Amino acid sequence: MAAKQSKSGQLALDGGTPVRTAPFPRWPVWDERDEAALLGVLRSGKWGSHAQSGTVAAFAEQFAAFQDARHGVAVTNGTAALEVALRAAGVEPLDEVVLPPYTFVASATAVLSLGAIPVFCDILPDTFLMDAADAERRVTPRTRAILAVHVAGQPADMDAVLGVAKRHGLKVIEDAAQAHGAAWRGRKVGAIGDAGTFSFQSSKNLTAGEGGLVVTDDDALAERAWSIANVGRVRQGAWYQHEGMGSNLRLTELQGALLLSQLERLPEQFERRERSARYLDRELVRVRGLTPQARDERVTGHAHHLYLLRFDSEHFGGKDRAWFLDAMRAEGVPCSAGYTTPLYRMNAVISERRKWAELARAAGREVNCPTSPDEEALPVTERVCGGEGIWLTQNILLGEEKDMADIVEAAAKVQRTASNA
Ligand SMILES: Cc1ncc(COP(=O)(O)O)c(C=O)c1O
Repeated sequence: MAAKQSKSGQLALDGGTPVRTAPFPRWPVWDERDEAALLGVLRSGKWGSHAQSGTVAAFAEQFAAFQDARHGVAVTNGTAALEVALRAAGVEPLDEVVLPPYTFVASATAVLSLGAIPVFCDILPDTFLMDAADAERRVTPRTRAILAVHVAGQPADMDAVLGVAKRHGLKVIEDAAQAHGAAWRGRKVGAIGDAGTFSFQSSKNLTAGEGGLVVTDDDALAERAWSIANVGRVRQGAWYQHEGMGSNLRLTELQGALLLSQLERLPEQFERRERSARYLDRELVRVRGLTPQARDERVTGHAHHLYLLRFDSEHFGGKDRAWFLDAMRAEGVPCSAGYTTPLYRMNAVISERRKWAELARAAGREVNCPTSPDEEALPVTERVCGGEGIWLTQNILLGEEKDMADIVEAAAKVQRTASNA
């Protein structure tokens, strides 16, 4: 369907009639099934999770299977999952981990929390995902792992990532916090590399308010991850037997119950988002100056936690992204700029990395720590963060075709008006 003319040609931003006023679908989604699941745990009086039985154990097993992985270890959130996965994979202080800077800060701070050093590679201009060739150029003798981030729910190029890892003997961790159900060449993400991590924080495609999970096919890595998340205990050991360093990262049975009932909805919601994204991909090509995230043909499932677009102000009469976002919101389409700060410019990353680098130098060890973010600036990431990236969130894609048509109509109206101004 072509983008149609709105009732009023005038932008809502300038006092015209908005394309829509109806809200998009709310998130999260729940009904009496979730209520019953929560009440069941509440009334059982067993609110803490157990290793072998209960809702958390059942969820960890079911979600791991859903992601084509042999093992799942539930933890408190996606940040903790990253810390656990990196540690269980053997990342140690002053090791380097290569990752993209276009992601949530936790991808980098999880590395730093182990005293390891994040080393940033650029992203690809069409997919916004890790540029594996650039990652390879950043590998040094100190590199221990690659952290591939499936931003927006589209798998990074796992063939290329695994190729780099094989050539240099590196571990591969997948940050799949945004990629529930996503698949690369027919295999769900998470355990394609050595381990993968998920988040169940409130905005995520599967949520219990908070929560996280590590998946892996590696038996020993799974045992280490379980131990780290259980205060250093071992599965067959005594309660007060602590064999290694760990923390209490357990979920509650209430969260486990909610995740189990939410998981039942995920396949239908996944298909709905795929359908809506396909519609937008098809229709938005008519709006000059907006380019949807390209989809690699080897991606057999895209989770669409976000719908990403590249904005080109040249086709909007020189107006910038901030103006476009205001105009779209006024037309009734909530959208945002998403990540506007590359992680190498984030103070949390700069200060923590500097701290470890100073310690390393004091110990006479070489360390990769640029003296300023400008020295480290990566051209594609700079462009996307600085003015090109636009996000629509996953709940919007749960709408009907009419809702998607409104998005296209609003974008076309804004573009037409801006370019004629
Ligand atoms: C890519 C990515 N990694 C890690 C995380 C951290 O997950 P959480 O918020 O559950 O700690 C998030 C979520 O915010 C994320 O989007």
